[in-house]
Amino acid sequence: MSEPRYRQIRRSRADNIPATVARIFSYLSSFRWQLILVFVCIIVEALTNVASSAFFAPLIDDYILPLVGKSNPDMTKFIYRLIFMAAVYLLGITVGYVYRKLMSIISTGTLYNIRKQLFEHMQEMSVQFYDTHTHGELMNFYTSDVDIIRPLIADSFPQAINTLISLSGSMFMMLTLSPKLTLVAVALLILVVLVSVLVGKKSRSYFVKVQKTVSDINGYVEEMFLGSKEVKAFCYEDESVRKFQKYNDECMHASIMSNVFAQSLMPINVNLSYISYAAVAVLGARMCIAGEISLGSIASFLLYTRQIAGPISGLSQQFNGMMMSIAGAERVFGIIDSPTEVDEGKIVLVNVKEGEGPLVETSEKTERYAWKNPEDGSLTELKGDIRLKNVTFAYEEGKTVLNDVSLYAKPGQKIALVGSTGAGKTTITNLINRFYDVQEGCITYDGIDIKDIAKSSLRKSLGVVLQDTNLFSGTVMDNIRYGNLDATDEECIAAAKLANADSFISRLPDGYNTMLISNGTNLSQGQRQLLNIARATVADPPVLILDEATSSIDTHTEKIIEKGMDKLMQGRTVFVIAHRLSTVRNANAIIVLEHGSIIERGNHEELLAQKGRYYRLYKGTAELD
Ligand SMILES: Nc1ncnc2c1ncn2[C@@H]1O[C@H](COP(=O)(O)OP(=O)(O)O)[C@@H](O)[C@H]1O
Ligand SMILES: [Mg+2]
Repeated sequence: MSEPRYRQIRRSRADNIPATVARIFSYLSSFRWQLILVFVCIIVEALTNVASSAFFAPLIDDYILPLVGKSNPDMTKFIYRLIFMAAVYLLGITVGYVYRKLMSIISTGTLYNIRKQLFEHMQEMSVQFYDTHTHGELMNFYTSDVDIIRPLIADSFPQAINTLISLSGSMFMMLTLSPKLTLVAVALLILVVLVSVLVGKKSRSYFVKVQKTVSDINGYVEEMFLGSKEVKAFCYEDESVRKFQKYNDECMHASIMSNVFAQSLMPINVNLSYISYAAVAVLGARMCIAGEISLGSIASFLLYTRQIAGPISGLSQQFNGMMMSIAGAERVFGIIDSPTEVDEGKIVLVNVKEGEGPLVETSEKTERYAWKNPEDGSLTELKGDIRLKNVTFAYEEGKTVLNDVSLYAKPGQKIALVGSTGAGKTTITNLINRFYDVQEGCITYDGIDIKDIAKSSLRKSLGVVLQDTNLFSGTVMDNIRYGNLDATDEECIAAAKLANADSFISRLPDGYNTMLISNGTNLSQGQRQLLNIARATVADPPVLILDEATSSIDTHTEKIIEKGMDKLMQGRTVFVIAHRLSTVRNANAIIVLEHGSIIERGNHEELLAQKGRYYRLYKGTAELD
């Protein structure tokens, strides 16, 4: 296996800026009409900006200067002019307000769509994907990476269009007013751009550092929170604070440097634009005295010199943010594009009933199932016969976890897998579930290679109580019903009774309606495990996989639920992985695994008679772990 994908995804820099920007635009296309309106508003706003500066030349030359020195000046035309100008400003302000409002709707809607697509895609990802990403990393995609796209859409895109239009409009107006003065203003503008680029580069390198240190801090905090009990139990608090301080110091240093440069950009630009302003004023005054240009034109021109620097330095200040947004978007798209769990299996599980002779498919809920091959329509009754044939498997290339494992479970048999931690027991269940696919050999289910069975059908036919199970936020009832969403309350309660979970549930404050919080931390581990068993029970699957289902239950409780389990196991094929050998004694076959290979197999008596590893484990002379 190559480098885990997340390392390729979590880069702070965007690789392909044009493609990513184009991709963001493609998301915007669902807001076509709003965008057209926004575009029109931006043009109007930019033009009113350009026009408002242009107004000053005629205002001074045609409306004010003619009145200067008059004893009883007629102000009406002047006032009308002012009202006209105010109306234009007002228009600019209004369209500006409208498009910002629209952009916030568009950007929020776009993020909504991206988040939705991201989550839907993640649901399709393989177990391997989740095994190779930490929670923190995955959460980052939803929080920082998606959120950071917003300013790009809401602020930077409109600003870029606005800048383009106002800049070209202003340039055009300046050229018509005075090409000579334009030359001076543009020369200084180029200086502003150069400085912005240089300072921006410096601040960006620190900015990337800030990003990294912030993610270090987040990772560390997450780890310490998750391990809060260990921190306390090992009195690690001081050490934990000391380490945190180190990350925090690094973050502070990078932030200060990044800010120093970012903050210096604005004053530098402002001062440069004052110089430009003064230069234009001095030169303009001389030209005015020489009669080359009118006083009003200088007034307009001066406003333009101020106006052109603003958007450019504004955009350059947004540059860091834009790059971050694009990098964030690229990471999100990287996940959305990453391959989902492949499923070439075509054979599906269908309900069947006794027909005239052979079984026939039915839409009724009959409790009887068959594997249906859609290609030829053939039906194979679901019996629960599972066989592993010469299965070899490695999670990572070169590190074989299972080595030539063969075993079979006939319908209704109970097969126990025992062996030390890390022997490969859970891996066998991962393969039967097709969380991972076998690399050599094959697994058959009722004679069908499980690679040909659609994963959803395969998993529906398997009831699993995983070694580390999760409960979800919701009531106890909701959590049991997770095993079968169609189950009625009565069926859920019946399942809980079968799993012997009913007695503790009835003692909970709200019984079956008790809310479980964050993975059921308000229950004991044994109680959580009982709920998991109830959850598997309600699914009523023909094949059960119990991975150390009773390992966190005390021997006394175990005895109680064993009776329930026996009922649960009746008529089903069961794979049971157990810590305590007492629970596997009555298994039809016990498979002893070591380092991924089967070293002994047989029933309890046979294995004891062999006086091998199982014998030693059973007698307690060999440690299971
Ligand atoms: N997702 C995984 N990625 C890589 N290696 C794994 C993964 N899960 C388990 N392993 C490795 O496979 C071996 C068998 O693990 P497992 O089947 O969980 O053992 P058991 O359930 O018998 O304790 C161990 O060496 C373990 O480190
Ligand atoms: Mg295990």
